[in-house]
This record gives sequence, C-alpha cells and structure tokens, in this order.
Amino acid sequence: MPGVSWTGGPSLLDPGTELDPYPLYRTLRGRYPLVYDEPFGAWLISRYADVRAALADPRLAAPGPGPALAHLDSGARDAHRALVSPAFQEGAPAVLAAGVERTAYVLARRLASRQEADLVAEFCQWLPTAAVVSALGLPYEATARVHALCRAGLDHLGGHHPALAALLGPHIARRRAQPGDDLLSLLCTARMDGRPLSDESVTGVAGILLGAGGGTTARALATFLADLLDHPRQLDAVRERPELTDRAWAESLRRDPPLQVVPRRALEAIGPIPAGATVACLLGAAGRDPERFADPDRYDVFRADPGALAYGSGRHFCPGTSLARLTAVHGLRALLDVLPHLCRVPGDRPSAEGLVSRSPRTLPVRLGPPAPAAPQATARRDPPRVRAR
Ligand code: HEM
Repeated sequence: MPGVSWTGGPSLLDPGTELDPYPLYRTLRGRYPLVYDEPFGAWLISRYADVRAALADPRLAAPGPGPALAHLDSGARDAHRALVSPAFQEGAPAVLAAGVERTAYVLARRLASRQEADLVAEFCQWLPTAAVVSALGLPYEATARVHALCRAGLDHLGGHHPALAALLGPHIARRRAQPGDDLLSLLCTARMDGRPLSDESVTGVAGILLGAGGGTTARALATFLADLLDHPRQLDAVRERPELTDRAWAESLRRDPPLQVVPRRALEAIGPIPAGATVACLLGAAGRDPERFADPDRYDVFRADPGALAYGSGRHFCPGTSLARLTAVHGLRALLDVLPHLCRVPGDRPSAEGLVSRSPRTLPVRLGPPAPAAPQATARRDPPRVRAR
C-alpha cells in the first residue's frame, strides 16, 4: 500500500473521465498513487502492484451486498460454491462450450444476409445470455425473457431473483423427475458435501451464470471485437493463427477491462485510510501501469504476459473466467467464419464509455463484400472493343 495521501486532487467524476479515464489514471499512478477522491467518496488505488496487494489484503473486504461470500445468503453462497465445485466442473464446461458455440453460429448466421449491423446490440448483448440459456436446456423462447431480466438488474453476482425462480421452477421440477444431458439437469443431480443442491441454489447458479454473462462478458466481448476490428493486421494474424485468440482476449481485458473499479471497505485503519472507508481498486489504471507493462497503451496481441487484473485477484477472483473465454473464442470464430468481410463501418468510430462498467455502446460494422469500385471516367478513354468473330 503506498504511503502517500492527498485530498483535493483529480477525481473520477471530473468531466470527460467517463469517455476516456486513461489520462486521469496516468496522473493518479504518477502523482497520487493513494488519494481520497472526495466527490467519488473513495480512496483511489491505481498502480498495478498496489491494486494487486489491495485485492489480496484481508483488511479490505468486499462491501455488501457484493461478491464476498460472507455477504451472500445461504442459497447464493451454495450457488457460488457449486460453480467452483468439482461436481459441477466435471460435465458443465463441455455443455457450456457446446451451448456457446451453437449460439454464436446462430447469431452470426442471422446477420449473414445483411450489409451492416451493430454488433453490440445484435451479437455481444445476446451471445453470453443466449449461450447459457441454450446450455441450461431452456426453450429458445426463454432467451428474450431472460435477456429482459438481465437488463432489468440480474447483475454480475446473481443472488435472489423471484422472477428467475418463477421462470426456472417448472424446468427444475421436470429435470428432478427426469434428468437429461443439459446443464440444468447436471445442476439438479450435482451433489455438494454429499447433498443435492436445493432449488434455490440451482436458481442461484443459473442466476450467476446468466447475470455475469448478461453484463460483464457482453461488455468485454464488445471491447474485444472493437479492438480487433480497429487493428486489422492483428485481426489477420488471429485469423491465420487461431491460437492467438486467447492472447488477444487477454490483451483487451488488460487494456480496457469491462469492470474498471472494484470497491472494498476498510475493516480497520490502514495508513491514512480510516476504518470503514471505501477503497476503489482501479483495474483499468493497473492494466496500463508502465512499471508492469511495456508501452501499455498499445494494443498488442503478441504481448507475452498480459497478466492483468481484469478478473480480480485473491479471495474473490472471478470463477467465470473460462466461461467468459469460451464466449470470446467461439464468438470470434463464428463471426469470422460466417462473415468473412466483417469490418468497421468506415468513418464511424464510436469509442468505449463508462466509469465503473466500460465498453463501446455500439459497434457498427459492414458485413457484405466491399462494393465494386465505380468505373472511373478516365479508366475507359477508348470504348471497349467488340471482337468480330
Ligand atoms: C470478461 C468477463 C468477466 C470479467 C472481466 C469479470 C470480472 C470479475 C472481477 C473483477 C471480479 C472480482 C470482484 C471483486 O474482487 O470484488 C469478479 C468476481 C466474480 N465473477 Fe466475474 N467477470 C467476468 C465474467 C464472469 C462470468 C461469466 C461469471 C459466471 C460464472 C462470473 C462470476 C463471478 C462471480 C460469482 C464473482 C464473485 C467471486 C467472489 O466474490 O468470490 N464472472 N468477476
């Protein structure tokens, strides 16, 4: 933890920060590595090493209601443990992977006859949710309802959701009576500590998978696709060497993570931070720390060790990393396979925005082949010869 404290410095709420926080992050890292941001109401930590240390510091707790298991009710706590339990891990990844792949191709093919589309509204915002709906084995018509629930606040952490419980209830009852080979059946038959998961816990796992997918992964996917489309040579490299996709994904998460700020509450006084104060760990600032990453503003899919903190660190490290990765890998592959001419709409460069959650709000793309060049007046000075037979 840095020993410097300062008040009256720059603030996350300064004008323009929501559109581009990176100049402010540079100032913070360089001059105010630990500073109380009065308008924002939190102590800001911005250097990579300090953010990493803060995320692992037991004196800094995740504020409730929040991700810390200590703050979750028993159903949600079980749900969270189930996500990382070996019973769930055995069959679930394959079922989820199949759901993501299938859904990515369905969504990409829907765009195939179009000339232009907005990838955020028509691909990124649907893929993570629809993929989990498909893997759970819910009917396709449930996708729109689940999507609406996600948008209405089924957030990153799942939790109690009466509407989701009502939607899933009949499906859970059916799987309990007659399990199939979908993810919901796997959850209904999984055992934790020798006991089956309760309906509440099954709904909780589904809520976490859908809630995180509905928001954070969708935002990360939008940034990832925008980064690659903005760097066509690197996109070509990924196209030719698909094994680079993981690096490209990690690089987007480092350079512009979808969760920029992770909050903590000080359980006791730590240096100048009083007990009870809120601390903001700035993941976006950490990802561009030149002490940790060479030329940090550059997007570089060849970077050897991205090692960023976009998924957090320590006790609350995100359990959804492989699902998020699957979404990126299959999403990109489906788009490149089905839409070989995919490119940005020339001249249209909407950029990312958002202070805590950040991503491009739209991503207009051209899908069809480029229009043939119009014949130029000079190109045909002579009339074309008609060969006599
Ligand atoms: C690119 C996509 C994602 C990113 C960038 C991301 C990021 C994060 C971060 C930074 C944290 C740590 C929060 C903290 O320390 O307080 C976290 C926690 C969490 N994430 Fe994700 N996440 C992503 C996708 C997912 C997915 C797909 C799931 C679904 C399984 C998920 C479920 C969770 C849960 C349950 C926690 C709480 C962990 C705990 O408190 O122990 N996330 N995520």
